[in-house]
Amino acid sequence: MLILGIETSCDETSVAVVRDGVTVLSNVISSSRKTFEALAGVIPEQAARMQIECMIPVLERALSEARVTMKEIDAIAVTRGPGLLGSLLVGTVTARALAAIHRKPLIGVHHTLGHLSSPWLDGGLTLPPSPGRIPAFPVLTLSVSGGHSDLWLRTSHVTGELIGRTRDDAAGEAFDKGASMLALPYPGGPSIERAARTGNERAYDFPLPLHGEDTLDFSFSGLKTSLKYLLRDQPDAPVPDAAASFQYAICRHLVHRLQKAIHRHPGVQEVHIVGGVSANARLRQAASDTCAEISPATIVRVPATLAYCTDNAAMIASAGEFIARELGDGAYATFATAASLPLAASMPGLN
Ligand code: KG4
Ligand code: ZN
Repeated sequence: MLILGIETSCDETSVAVVRDGVTVLSNVISSSRKTFEALAGVIPEQAARMQIECMIPVLERALSEARVTMKEIDAIAVTRGPGLLGSLLVGTVTARALAAIHRKPLIGVHHTLGHLSSPWLDGGLTLPPSPGRIPAFPVLTLSVSGGHSDLWLRTSHVTGELIGRTRDDAAGEAFDKGASMLALPYPGGPSIERAARTGNERAYDFPLPLHGEDTLDFSFSGLKTSLKYLLRDQPDAPVPDAAASFQYAICRHLVHRLQKAIHRHPGVQEVHIVGGVSANARLRQAASDTCAEISPATIVRVPATLAYCTDNAAMIASAGEFIARELGDGAYATFATAASLPLAASMPGLN
């Protein structure tokens, strides 16, 4: 199928055209992030106003870059939640109007299911390089973004079990809050990664969260507090060293959970890391080193480009294709746009 994807859950306006869930013909992303960089966060009303202005130009560019017309599109997939309500409404109202005018089926996609589908786009990036290998279930997916830190054991695109979740902040949120303490710009993940490049990650010791507990859950609030005390007690601590040590502590915690999950579920074929934090090179390296050591047959797959790690419409189009393949007509059920939306509420097989 040729699917038009639309994603507007936060500060980005993105439209993509994807063939068969995997081949990206276009993926246009317009972000108002620069506007919010100095404010350490997004102002929802302002983000939605900017999305209204750029929605149609982004749509037109996505179609022209893909060299297709609306007539050739088989279905429209749009993020129905969760996210900022005003922003989600810009995308879903546009999708509903396009579907009505051009008489196309419409698929409401949960934002997280989009991230879970992102390693299929353009074949993903395998660590170590495994040319020609295509993803096979069961897949262990570490989904880490600004809004969630989850560990999924997936048996298909739309079925699986949530085996670990965060008890407090999300991993991306920890990066964002840490960056703000270090006076580094928003979003925090990329700025901490940049600052960490010249730092010593062993300069400061951070605790391993939930150490000794028999759980696959995550917790980042202790790391955040440790960083706060470090900066209080050692105000002259070099920012690169503090950033590198903090980044290392987050990655160590995430990879520790992956390691435990692989031991518990030895049938896993691949480990996928998705969401904004999957862009982090230190995390990728730590995950692939660990897999190579404990289970060499299990490869790590991350999204093929950094644009597929953070929010984008290609992953929504891909998820739309997989939902249609696995659910048939059920994929086109009517849906409500919702700011808060548990994944199981829109995809009962994933809970
Ligand atoms: O998936 P995403 O674009 O949006 C949400 O759905 O939340 O993720 C954004 C999050 C932010 O918290 C950002 O700091 C983090 O992903 N992030 C990173 C990196 N790039 C983005 N975290 C660590 N390292 C990065 N390179
Ligand atoms: Zn996201």
